[in-house]
Amino acid sequence: MRILIVGGGGREHALAWKLAQSPSCEAIFAAPGNAGTAEVGENLAIHDSNIDGICDAAEGHRIDLVVVGPEAPLAAGLVDALSERGILAFGPTQAAARIESSKWFAKSIMQAARVPHAGGELFDTPQAAHKWLEILGPYDLPVLKADGLAAGKGVIVPDHIDDAHDAVDQMFSGAFGSAGERVVIEDRLSGMEASAMAIVSGADILPLPLSCDYKRIMDGDQGPNTGGMGVYAPPGFVGDPDDVFSSIHQPVVDQMASDAIEFRGLLYAGLMIDDGSLNVLEFNARFGDPETQAVLPLLEGDLLPVLEASARGEALPRDAISHSGRASVSVAIVSGGYPGPYDTGKPIHGLDAVDDSVDVFHAGTAIDDDGRTVTAGGRVLAVTAVADTLAEARGIAYDNVQRITFDGAFHRTDIALREVPP
Ligand code: AMP
Ligand code: GLY
Repeated sequence: MRILIVGGGGREHALAWKLAQSPSCEAIFAAPGNAGTAEVGENLAIHDSNIDGICDAAEGHRIDLVVVGPEAPLAAGLVDALSERGILAFGPTQAAARIESSKWFAKSIMQAARVPHAGGELFDTPQAAHKWLEILGPYDLPVLKADGLAAGKGVIVPDHIDDAHDAVDQMFSGAFGSAGERVVIEDRLSGMEASAMAIVSGADILPLPLSCDYKRIMDGDQGPNTGGMGVYAPPGFVGDPDDVFSSIHQPVVDQMASDAIEFRGLLYAGLMIDDGSLNVLEFNARFGDPETQAVLPLLEGDLLPVLEASARGEALPRDAISHSGRASVSVAIVSGGYPGPYDTGKPIHGLDAVDDSVDVFHAGTAIDDDGRTVTAGGRVLAVTAVADTLAEARGIAYDNVQRITFDGAFHRTDIALREVPP
């Protein structure tokens, strides 16, 4: 098969790396890709928001399967546009992607399906939202979410009631564009977070290993949120993973099917786990980033027939992939200053000094005019190590992280530390 991967981050490099190992894979393209996907296949200079451009490229390059990485093109209807042209695509339709692109839609589905989740209210005027905050009072601080997609920035977890009121004003004054025209004010939950991804084909779900990502820039979960500073899999604090998928993913996809919004693609639940009780914080309609960079290296077997069956809406070939039973740790190396302003174009050294057993997944990288691999984004790359235990994987990952350098490089030092006995 000829495969086109849409997107250009670490998730897409990991997908390209895994799919390239399939015996049925003839060629891989990435749009727009990065320096990592260029090693696995051919990059096409098409932005992932350019729906017509991607459809034209898929036709031009005789693509058999398009795999969509990011949420924005899914929410914009890329899969619908491709299928109108008769091109097979992995990912949900625009209607099904609303499980991610509208927080309120996700809540309505969870309510109907009786899936435990953070309760909340929807507001479409700032006055009503301010009034609700006053009713809650200063000691019951909620979480505020722009209803629509806001590039991962639409969630505000205020430390003070004044910050909550400010967040309402910001959202309704367009800080997140049309995503903030409706605002969800949600109960604030506490506990440990985990990510649960499953490949879905209608009512058929195929669970992947659970994982834990680290969103804050600094060790100890300090500082601003980022696109992800690292991830490990599987977490030791979640009970039986099968219970997660049978109590969350299955009822949700069944509910969607009964509402005539069949889900095909990847369904990601962001969980809050407190003393064994599970609640859903959010759904994503795509592979997680950086979760994919830790989860795919744990899969044995061929992912391609699974994605193809999902794209076709057919029964998933359950035996095609299995969990190796091992553990993985993935550490992101980011540009100095990220998630604020940062420089790009810094040459990256040491990429060929890493162990053969380690995978380096590129995110913000490019090849410059002199043929050097240089930084091209905030999150530059991630080093993933797989071993029998999380402690071993962590040791190998950090040993290799030290070998990759560029001007201003920064990484967290505590990824997976909580799982490692002192
Ligand atoms: P999201 O952008 O939806 O991934 O949310 C970003 C982060 O906000 C999550 O990873 C949580 O740490 C936090 N968060 C979201 N919803 C809640 C909630 N209801 N209670 C507590 N924390 C939350
Ligand atoms: N790691 C969170 C996400 O992919 O949205």
